[in-house]
Amino acid sequence: MTRRVTILGSTGSIGRQALDVVRAHPDLFEIVGLSASSNANLLQQQATEFHSDYVALENGESSALGDTKAEVITGPGSARNLAEVPADIVLNGIVGFAGLAATVAALKAGNRLALANKESLVAGGDWVNTLAGDNHIIPVDSEHSAIYQCLEGREGEVSEILLTASGGPFYEFEAERLDAAGPEDALKHPTWEMGRKITIDSATMMNKGLEVIEAHHLFGVSYDDVKVVIHRQSVVHGGVLLTDGSAILHAALPDMRIPIAWGMSYPERVDVGAKRVGFGDASWTFQEPRSDVFRCLPLAVEAGRAGGAHPIALNAANEVAVQAFLDRRINFPRIAGVIEDVLERVTQEGNMDSMEAIEAVDRWSRGEAERLTAEVAAR
Ligand SMILES: NC(=O)c1ccc[n+]([C@@H]2O[C@H](COP(=O)([O-])OP(=O)(O)OC[C@H]3O[C@@H](n4cnc5c(N)ncnc54)[C@H](OP(=O)(O)O)[C@@H]3O)[C@@H](O)[C@H]2O)c1
Repeated sequence: MTRRVTILGSTGSIGRQALDVVRAHPDLFEIVGLSASSNANLLQQQATEFHSDYVALENGESSALGDTKAEVITGPGSARNLAEVPADIVLNGIVGFAGLAATVAALKAGNRLALANKESLVAGGDWVNTLAGDNHIIPVDSEHSAIYQCLEGREGEVSEILLTASGGPFYEFEAERLDAAGPEDALKHPTWEMGRKITIDSATMMNKGLEVIEAHHLFGVSYDDVKVVIHRQSVVHGGVLLTDGSAILHAALPDMRIPIAWGMSYPERVDVGAKRVGFGDASWTFQEPRSDVFRCLPLAVEAGRAGGAHPIALNAANEVAVQAFLDRRINFPRIAGVIEDVLERVTQEGNMDSMEAIEAVDRWSRGEAERLTAEVAAR
């Protein structure tokens, strides 16, 4: 049966790979809508190739899309409006907090959500889960996709879930070497090719921290029951530890098309032509994270445990600090410093169960983080 799919962030790393999946299986998928922030040229090409019904351009004029046959939505809130259009699957591949409004809109409209935008679960947390109700969010992050598949049919048998991390490009570095690490070094990920923000998050280990919070919300597990291990090869993506002491692991070569395709075709499985896992010369290693050096992981877990405004502040401060690092305004270790300083200043209380409440904390945290990064830059 053909699935009618909307791809939010279709011009990004996740979005382009999602369209590779559609290209490989034109009989299985039909495109309802595509969205971008400002890359109108690529969005227009995609809309033409995939005969998209709608295109949404968040930052730009409709004239930038030329004479597309699709119905055009432009301006702030475009992706959110597109997410509401009836579809079998809305794949959210927007980067950062900007993806939350679209996640909320898709869920409120009753569309099934395949979620790559982990930031919307970090910031939206319990509220987003409530909006999802029985309409399960299908994870696209490779680790959560792996864990979801290991968990299926195992109710009552699971004691912990296992989340693997590549460790990023600096994992073997002595702490002192990190002072001189620049954006060009941090953007060289050893095993994955991804957008810039998530690549920096992988280097700081914040990506794993965000994923621990994501796992807590997706799978309803306590923070104590999420075990993070460093697995440099990025072949085992996740697993479950069972009550009898055994474990089930999920493995695939690092190719995002696999979890993207699974998210789009769930509960069925489609072959995207990915290389098979090899066992002949496989060597898989597992190590404890170096949380004393890579502070973003423990900071995220602490923020997740604290709940309320804390994960929202963590996410916002991280987005600001990552951009400041990319702009060379702060050095690599200061990313964690800015986040820690913002978290220490959080005083907001109350339930974060509306867009207004979440956006207020996000705005405040960005302001604090901008001030702190400017202070460092001025020194
Ligand atoms: N890349 C991966 O392999 C990977 C793996 C697991 C999870 N994820 C998660 O997937 C999400 C996307 O990551 P990515 O690496 O694909 O990012 P990316 O390459 O930077 O792409 C981001 C996409 O979002 C659009 N966008 C950016 N800001 C927007 C805004 N304010 N409003 C609406 N759209 C906006 C961009 O449009 P323009 O092109 O016009 O800027 C682009 O289409 C992130 O949450 C990331 O953590 C990614």
